[in-house]
Amino acid sequence: LRHLLTTEGLPITILQRILDTAESFAGVTEREVKKIPLLRGKSIFNLFFEPSTRTRTTFEIAAKRLSADVINLNVAVSSQTKGETLLDTVNNLSAMHADMFVVRHSQSGAAHLIAQHVGPDIHVINAGDGWHAHPTQALLDMFTIRRYKQDFRALRVAIIGDILHSRVARSQIHALATLGVPEIRVIAPKTLLPAKIERLGVHVYHNMAQGLKDIDVLMMLRLQHERMESAHLPSTEEYFKYYGLTPERLALAKSDAIVMHPGPMNRGVEIDSEVADGAQSVILPQVSFGIAVRMAVMSMLTKN
Ligand code: CP
Repeated sequence: LRHLLTTEGLPITILQRILDTAESFAGVTEREVKKIPLLRGKSIFNLFFEPSTRTRTTFEIAAKRLSADVINLNVAVSSQTKGETLLDTVNNLSAMHADMFVVRHSQSGAAHLIAQHVGPDIHVINAGDGWHAHPTQALLDMFTIRRYKQDFRALRVAIIGDILHSRVARSQIHALATLGVPEIRVIAPKTLLPAKIERLGVHVYHNMAQGLKDIDVLMMLRLQHERMESAHLPSTEEYFKYYGLTPERLALAKSDAIVMHPGPMNRGVEIDSEVADGAQSVILPQVSFGIAVRMAVMSMLTKN
């Protein structure tokens, strides 16, 4: 594995190796992660052209726990604002002896473009590109599911919300299918589903009561306002009425179901605070696991 750009087509052996490696980095508690000198002397550049709280920060923590030097490009005050192209920016940072680029961009394919362009010793990780993919989010989600549910082959998983604009949902669906989850459901209004989503092997529901029956894992998504035409934007009150995850709706799933959310959450829109902060929520453990999973990805890339 030289770059990590998508979970689509990622072989199960590599997927499992990432999860196993992450397990070895995770401490005995969810908070304790080991610090090791694996990436000492390496320079990792965080290039976030879109906002981020969890991904950028946990990549930085993960790189520092592997003893790498981390450089966060401040895009708002970079020469991008003077018209420099993405590839010219990358060329200049490569000239500063970058070993790895972690890239988030609003354009689908941006990380692929950089991966095709850089020299053979530089690794690229996609930290979210447009509507397309967010592979490390999906990997940390798989790690979380394995921690709480063990056997992927015995699970019914529902992904709920704005699937249409979600790079997270696409990456989750590919990873869940590869790991052998027998039933993946998507629950959303028709306006927030991509055409022909069934081709990915998912079962489509438009009704929460029907879609949540017998579910083991609920993966919530926010409305991606920044990617919507205003005409397609549902009112938040109406959305919560039909698709908001309330305690009553959660009770329709299995009694030991877990609730996940990649963040950022919009309380009172896709999820009720009582559920977000409730006993079945694993939303904050997801964030913690992101450190070990990103350590695993960075260490595996630099081995090749
Ligand atoms: N899940 C996720 O990508 O969160 P951030 O946008 O805060 O990085």
